Amino acid sequence: MLNCNSQNILRANLEKQMKLMANAADTLFILFGASGDLSWRLVVPALFNLYLEGHLPQRFQLLAVDRLDSSDSEIAGHLQKGAAGNSRRGVPTPDDWNAFAGMIRYIKVDVTDADGFNTLAKVLDAQDAQWGGKSDRVFYLATPPALFRPIAIGLGAANLAQDRAHVRLVVEKPLGNDLESFHEINDELCRIFEERQLFRIDHYLGKETVQNILAMRFANSIFEPIWNRSYVDHVAITASETLGVEKRGGYYEHAGALRDMVQNHLLQLLCLVAMEPPVAYDADDIRDKKVDVLHSLRPISRDTVDMFAARGQYAEGWIHGTNLPQYRDEPGVAPRSNTETYAALKLYVDNWRWQDVPFYLRTGKRMTADVTEISIRFRDVPHRAFPASVGLNAQPTRLVIQINPEQGIVLKFMAKEPGNPLRLSPVDMRFRYKDAFQAEAPAAYETLLRDIMIGDATLFMRSDQVEAAWKLLMPVLDVWAENPATDFPNYAAGSWGPESGDMLVARDSNSWLTPTLANK
Ligand code: BG6
Repeated sequence: MLNCNSQNILRANLEKQMKLMANAADTLFILFGASGDLSWRLVVPALFNLYLEGHLPQRFQLLAVDRLDSSDSEIAGHLQKGAAGNSRRGVPTPDDWNAFAGMIRYIKVDVTDADGFNTLAKVLDAQDAQWGGKSDRVFYLATPPALFRPIAIGLGAANLAQDRAHVRLVVEKPLGNDLESFHEINDELCRIFEERQLFRIDHYLGKETVQNILAMRFANSIFEPIWNRSYVDHVAITASETLGVEKRGGYYEHAGALRDMVQNHLLQLLCLVAMEPPVAYDADDIRDKKVDVLHSLRPISRDTVDMFAARGQYAEGWIHGTNLPQYRDEPGVAPRSNTETYAALKLYVDNWRWQDVPFYLRTGKRMTADVTEISIRFRDVPHRAFPASVGLNAQPTRLVIQINPEQGIVLKFMAKEPGNPLRLSPVDMRFRYKDAFQAEAPAAYETLLRDIMIGDATLFMRSDQVEAAWKLLMPVLDVWAENPATDFPNYAAGSWGPESGDMLVARDSNSWLTPTLANK
């Protein structure tokens, strides 16, 4: 039933999207920060794949904007290497790439200079004149966040933002470093653009397995009746990585795990698990239901931070036979850094459905395995009819939503072993994306870019969601900043994080489920 329903939803969704793409308006995609890492690694490879699959509008131009001296062919050559190394389709054939590169044009703009925006406006108008009509304009800011405000102001001043129906602005996280700086940036964006023009990316929402949470919950009738405090004991969300901070020390030192992963990705996953059913698959309805969850989260007061949050920083250790340095020895990191590379939270959603059900969230760098999954742990049976001897290894029923790298859903429950005497054992019932669907899933950025071009904001963060997430985390961020950790580094690279993270759940007599992958 699960396979069939999910398949129908996905097919219907795909058909809808293809129809919309076929009718998509002529599009000018203006990529600020075109020679930067984000454009190279994610945005352009995704655009190229959309092109290959016929998902770009019929008339499309990629205007690569940066402040360096360059040319159409030079930037196209640079971006080609990015596509070769980062596209899920591997190295492009020369014919495919050349056809795509024909749509790339380089424009030098210094975003601190108003003239640059006026030049840009002329180029865009000239293209509209050539196409003979008003095109859609997507301004994508693949730049450091410090440039979001100046670029938005420059666009506004050059009259490039005011056409509400045709202009969209795309920004990446982080949107601010705390509640105050979020307001500074966001208020400026909202002064210049209307909310419906703003697309705030959280790439987790573009992942197929994340979108499937709604399909699983609301396209099947069997889950909703048990999706509440009467049946669910607790929910645990893990996003662990074996990677360290790589070359991102400069950014990460000011971010840390709570801002980098929890403020956005993990809270979005929590919302999808906890939200009420939407009336329709509609951007505002879904986002209303999600923001209701964020508003229902029990605030963490400053004096209870230690009860509800745990932090860690990795020490040296071994992963896959390689000895890895501690965080404090990574490039760009201060030798006595207080930045957390691991964060765990215990949250409560104070509403009728979830009152007193703990939601545990944890994320960390340099952990045992690369795993993102959500584990719904159901309550124990109210009465044990079987004698203890038949099920010594009795385990509670769990539903595990696997986001990455396994993609699927596992129901873990007790079953009778074959033969006599009677014995019970835990077993797994699995749905695997790759077995059920033959088609290769698009990368998260492909889905998100396509949605931006057709103006569908369902998978993007609305202003009130980002604000609510910052509000929730501010007491933790403040207390952690004011009280540097005395035990850092406190977990070995290659482990499941610090003891304090385990204690957070152990205090409720719970434990983190060892992710399914790591069991193998
Ligand atoms: C990004 C974070 O948003 O998400 C990175 O900035 C993190 O630090 C990444 O590694 C994880 O994303 P994914 O898709 O690899 O799980």
